[in-house]
Amino acid sequence: MHDRTKTLFIETVGCQMNVLDSELVVGSLRRQGYELVHEPTAADVILFTTCSVREHAEEKTYSALGRLAPHKKANPDTVIGVLGCMAQKDQEEVRRRAPHVDMVVGTGQLARVPELVAEVQRTRVPQYALSLGRSDGGKQSVTASFESFDPPRDASMRPTPFQAFVRIQIGCDKFCTYCVVPTTRGPEQSRHPDHLLAECRQLANEGCKEVTLIGQTVNSYAFDHGDGRRTRLSDLISRIHDIESIERIKFVTNFPKDMTNDLLDAVRELPKAVKYLHVPVQSGCDEVLKRMKRQYSIDSYREMLYRCRERVPGVAISSDFIVGFCGESEESFGKTMDLVREAKFKNSFIFKYSTRPGTKADDLYPDDIPEEVKKRRNNDLLQVQNANCLEDHKSRIGHTVEVLVEGPSKVGERQPPGLRQMIGRTMTDHIVVFDGHDRLVGRTLSARVKEASPFTLFGDVETGEIAGGGLVAREAEPVRRVGLPLV
Ligand code: 5AD
Ligand code: SF4
Repeated sequence: MHDRTKTLFIETVGCQMNVLDSELVVGSLRRQGYELVHEPTAADVILFTTCSVREHAEEKTYSALGRLAPHKKANPDTVIGVLGCMAQKDQEEVRRRAPHVDMVVGTGQLARVPELVAEVQRTRVPQYALSLGRSDGGKQSVTASFESFDPPRDASMRPTPFQAFVRIQIGCDKFCTYCVVPTTRGPEQSRHPDHLLAECRQLANEGCKEVTLIGQTVNSYAFDHGDGRRTRLSDLISRIHDIESIERIKFVTNFPKDMTNDLLDAVRELPKAVKYLHVPVQSGCDEVLKRMKRQYSIDSYREMLYRCRERVPGVAISSDFIVGFCGESEESFGKTMDLVREAKFKNSFIFKYSTRPGTKADDLYPDDIPEEVKKRRNNDLLQVQNANCLEDHKSRIGHTVEVLVEGPSKVGERQPPGLRQMIGRTMTDHIVVFDGHDRLVGRTLSARVKEASPFTLFGDVETGEIAGGGLVAREAEPVRRVGLPLV
C-alpha cells in the first residue's frame, strides 16, 4: 500500500437521514486514515449516499455515476460505491446502469463500508451488502437485517460542531401507498433510550448545543424495555433535557395520527424543546388521503392542529404536500388550497407526485395527472403558502427573538471573515439574518426583527455595553429560563 493519504469524496442526496448516514460513513473512513476531498476525480474512494423518494433524485445519481465512467476506466483502482436507499431498492438496476460501480451497500449495512472498501481494493471484486426485502423473510429476520448505523461521532464532519442529528428510530411501518421508505429503510425500530442518552451526552461534551432527533415518524418512537416499562418520545426528550449544555432539542418528522398530548405537553413545558412541529398532511382531500393510505381524515388533522396550538401556545407548524397524486381532481386540489389558506403553516414543502415502482400506488392507480397540471398546482400552492409566510413574518416585526447563530448567510459567505451577514434560527425555527461577527457562531443571542420577506426575517442584534468598552452582542438568557410560559 502507498503511504500517501487516502482520499474520499462523498455526495449526498436526500433527507436528514442521508446527511447523517454520510457523516457517519465519513467518520468511520476517517478513522481508517481517509481524508475528505471536494472533487470526485481527486479521490481514491467515491461514494454516493442516495435517495429514492422521487425519480428525479435517482436520475441525478445515475447521471453523476455516468459522468464518472471515463474516469473509472482511466483509473481502475478508484473505488466507486452507491450507498443507501437506491442501493437497497435497486441493486440490480445499479449494476445494469452503472457497471463500473464497485460497491452497493444498503441503508441497513453501512457499518460494513470500511471493510467493503478494503475488500474491493484487495480483490478488485465488486461487493454487495444488502438487508432483506420486506417480504424476503419473517418480521424478525427482516428487522434484524436492518442495523441502525450509529458509530462513534466525528464532530469535524458536521456542518456545524454545535448542531447534530441523532437517529432515534429507523425504518417505517406506515406504508403510505406512494412511498418507498418502508422498502428502502425497512421495519420501524426505536433505539434504546440509554444509547441515545449516551450519544447526546457525548455530543454535548464535544460542544454540541442543539440536537435534532430524527425518525421517519419520530413521534411514534416507543422503546419497550421488556419488563412492562415503555419510553415514549416525550420521556426521551425530558431525559435529554437534563443534559446541562444542550440548549435546544428538535424532532422531525411527525406522523399526524401519533401526535399525542404527552408529547405536546413536553414541548410546552420543557424550555429547551423547540416550539416547532413538522407534521406532513400531504393532501387536503379525504378521498386522496384514503388512496394514499394516510390513516386520518382532514377533520382529524384539523383537530390535531387545533390541539397542537392550544397545548403549545405560539408553536410553529409546517407540512409536506404531494400535488398531482393519482386521481387528484381540480376539486380535490381545491380542498388542499383551502387547507393551506386556513392552516397557516410556517412553511410547506411541496412535491409533484412521482410514481415509484414497487409501491402500492404504482400497482393500483394510474399516474394520470399530466406534468403541466402538477407544475401548475405546485406553483398555485406555493403562492398561497408564500403569502402566508409573509403575513406570519410581518407579524413578527418589532419582536425580540432568541437566535442560535449558525454561521454566515449566503451573502455573508461572499464577504470577508469578521463582521458580516450571519444567519440563525429562532425557537420556532424561523430563519433570521443580521449583521454580526464570526465569533457569535454557536451562541444564542437576542435580535430585534426589523424587516420581513416571505423567506427570511431581518434583525438587529441587541447590543449591550461591557466593562472595558466596546459594544458586544448581549447573549440571550440561558435557554432554560426563557421558554414559553407554562399554562
Ligand atoms: N412523490 C412525491 N413526493 C413524495 N414524497 C414521498 N414520496 C413521494 C412520491 N412518490 C414526499 C412526501 C414526504 C416527503 C419526504 O416526500 O411529501 O413527506
Ligand atoms: Fe413514507 Fe408514509 Fe413512512 Fe412517511 S409515514 S416515510 S410518507 S411510508
